[in-house]
Amino acid sequence: MLKVPFLDLRVTDERERAEILSGIERILMHGRVLLGPEVDEFEQKVAARVGRRYAVGCNSGPDALIIAMRALRIGPGDEVIVPALSFIATANAVSLVGATPVFADTDDNLNMSAESVERLVTPATKAIIPVHWTGHMCEMDSLIAVAQKFGLHVVEDASQAFDAAIGPRKAGSYGVIGCFSMNSMKVFSSLGAAGILVTDDAALRERCVTLRYHRLVNREYCTELAQNSRLDTVQAAVLLVRLERLEGVIDKRRQNAAYLNQRLQNHVCVPWEPEGQRHVYYTYTIQADRRDELAIFLASQNIETKIQHPLLLPQHPIYGGRARGEWTRAYCLIKRVLCLPSNEKLTDTQLERVADAVIEFAASRVAA
Ligand SMILES: Cc1ncc(COP(=O)(O)O)c(C=O)c1O
Repeated sequence: MLKVPFLDLRVTDERERAEILSGIERILMHGRVLLGPEVDEFEQKVAARVGRRYAVGCNSGPDALIIAMRALRIGPGDEVIVPALSFIATANAVSLVGATPVFADTDDNLNMSAESVERLVTPATKAIIPVHWTGHMCEMDSLIAVAQKFGLHVVEDASQAFDAAIGPRKAGSYGVIGCFSMNSMKVFSSLGAAGILVTDDAALRERCVTLRYHRLVNREYCTELAQNSRLDTVQAAVLLVRLERLEGVIDKRRQNAAYLNQRLQNHVCVPWEPEGQRHVYYTYTIQADRRDELAIFLASQNIETKIQHPLLLPQHPIYGGRARGEWTRAYCLIKRVLCLPSNEKLTDTQLERVADAVIEFAASRVAA
């Protein structure tokens, strides 16, 4: 039975492979293998694409978040509100700088709820980290309004949402700092680990540049704790090639999502994209009754799916028992979510098989 993979990380496009190899070849020839012209160019292009003045490349999404927390002088005694539903890195970035993550509930779109955030603010709250989950942007106007009301920093974790937008405004352009992961599974991906942060604030940019390399000021004086988190030059070269192709990748993912929406909307709860928003479909996440049975059925059809995530952040052993926050709705939703394959490399036949199989499952349950 034809396999439908969730992702295919091979570089099968001949032209893309040739462009990546020639980018690496250029680095071999100029020899500036730490930061260098590729990283500079990548930072400039990302800043322009997101609509910000500056970008600072770093080693991963979590490193971008940690640098952002440090740049804003968030540390012990401070609280940062994060969504209960996210990848563990969002909360760990807060904990790793010595601050305390507080967990907010989600709205029906699986994103952080502004009402929940407002209920959780205390005098110790310094920042909120909205995560644009699945590639769908949070309700930024409501979240920004809460942040302004209480004088909180907004740091976006836009790891899943590079190039997503609300009208003309891109993910990463709302907060004082926007953070991205470009790991190899992302829509805009490197060939390994990579990340970047963006800001309009020149002083913050300066701090971030030194915080990404041991906070060495004038190359010699370490003034605060920080790690080495420089963006790899080779990854920057790969990302420059992929930035040129990104529009095509996102278009294909959006077409795949539109097809699946149209086929599945009467059978399961499909992702919702409000008028004027651009969802980039990092994952195509449905909500379904009997989710586990559906996942098992799809696996029996050789269709790979993912549950992102089976645990909320406050349920991880590292936070369990002592986590503060609210997550009633998120707790219901994580029992229903399932990510279906919808990546840009799928053929029409593979995509059709995904839709057929979900419909077959739903119909058999109705009949039973
Ligand atoms: C929302 C979110 N934050 C952070 C990360 C971590 O990024 P990285 O893979 O660069 O460690 C991810 C990666 O999947 C993510 O989805």
